[in-house]
Amino acid sequence: QTLHVTQCSQTSTVLLAAAKPRLFLLSNSAQNDGKVHVLLLSSWRSGSSFMGQVFSQHPSVFYLMEPAWHVWTKVEKPRAGLLRMAVRDLLRSLLQCDFSVMDSYFPENAHVSSLFMWTVSRALCSPPACSITARNESQCRQKCDVKGLQKVEKACRTHSHVVLKEVRLFELKSLYPLLQDPNLDLRIVHLVRDPRAVYRSRDALPGKLMFDSTIVLEQKDIPAAEVQYSVMQEVCHSHLEIYETAILKPPPFLEGRYKMIRYEDMARNPLKEVSDIYQFVGLEMTKQMEEWIYKTTHGKGKGTGKQAFQVIPRNATQVSEAWRTMLPHSKVKRVQEVCGEAMELLGYRSVHSEEEQKRLDLDLLLVRELR
Ligand SMILES: *[C@@H]1O[C@H](CO)[C@@H](O)[C@H](O)[C@H]1NC(C)=O
Ligand SMILES: *[C@@H]1O[C@H](CO)[C@@H](O)[C@H](O)[C@H]1NC(C)=O
Repeated sequence: QTLHVTQCSQTSTVLLAAAKPRLFLLSNSAQNDGKVHVLLLSSWRSGSSFMGQVFSQHPSVFYLMEPAWHVWTKVEKPRAGLLRMAVRDLLRSLLQCDFSVMDSYFPENAHVSSLFMWTVSRALCSPPACSITARNESQCRQKCDVKGLQKVEKACRTHSHVVLKEVRLFELKSLYPLLQDPNLDLRIVHLVRDPRAVYRSRDALPGKLMFDSTIVLEQKDIPAAEVQYSVMQEVCHSHLEIYETAILKPPPFLEGRYKMIRYEDMARNPLKEVSDIYQFVGLEMTKQMEEWIYKTTHGKGKGTGKQAFQVIPRNATQVSEAWRTMLPHSKVKRVQEVCGEAMELLGYRSVHSEEEQKRLDLDLLLVRELR
């Protein structure tokens, strides 16, 4: 395979990408000619848009953001538990570039733009999905919105990696059939973040996440003042459950296929973390990607407010500590109560006074050998 790479340099990225994972895993990839499938699992306000772009910007990746949004918005009185198998089956089809599954969720005259947040996918804004290589999202919106999904499927097939980012999954067990499917070579990247920082970010966006919160909370009648804490409890519980399933007692088909990353490690050392993730999924680090990562994590803004759902250059370290000065200690205490167990497992130290909270020289991130 090394010889192969030197002989056809044009396809070297794809070949390298396909060759690497086989060295690690005696996987079931025999039937899918080296294609790698990645689920980026995360939760709201945890840096998953940035992480999604880390994949989307890579030339070997076909990326879609949160396709389960279509499932959650299609039915009346949706509940997360009820919809999880529909979500699982949607993901399975999309990972295999079968977009006919979208018929259930799309209007008859589907366009590329029917796909949720389609312009954040580089692959949907460049050939073969689009006739041009769009320079930014607004140009993509203008020039790349064609009728039908044939070109989308083609684009999906011509990339060595299909990556789906999802925030609407709360456990791993429903994914077991995908991990055992001989047509898939699935890797799970699980992105978590300090629950206190997540809470602060949610708190700064009143109302915006209400629709999803109702579904996470299974339509239960919960006092408005408690909703955020209840959602945090669910999210933290799901981190625990996923981590325990994958690390503490993994079934054999899950071994070597799960990697957890903490937002804060990413913020402190983005290039190293991204390199590790690329290696885990068999993607090559490129000069362009290195530059993009540097630019995006070393900006000046704090990234709050209007651009809440965009990936803009910002100071990643500053963003990850913002909760310590901006959140009242009473709220911090509540979050620590509902998320204590998860925080301990993931290596986030609790603070026991307002003074501790505001003492920024006190590092709350514990060193953790996460897989
Ligand atoms: C997007 O790119 C197009 C083409 O280069 C340019 O004309 C336009 O000003 C850009 N828009 C934004 C918002 O950057
Ligand atoms: C980012 O913020 C941290 C903490 O406030 C500061 O030490 C660092 O110099 C900032 N970096 C840039 C590039 O502004």
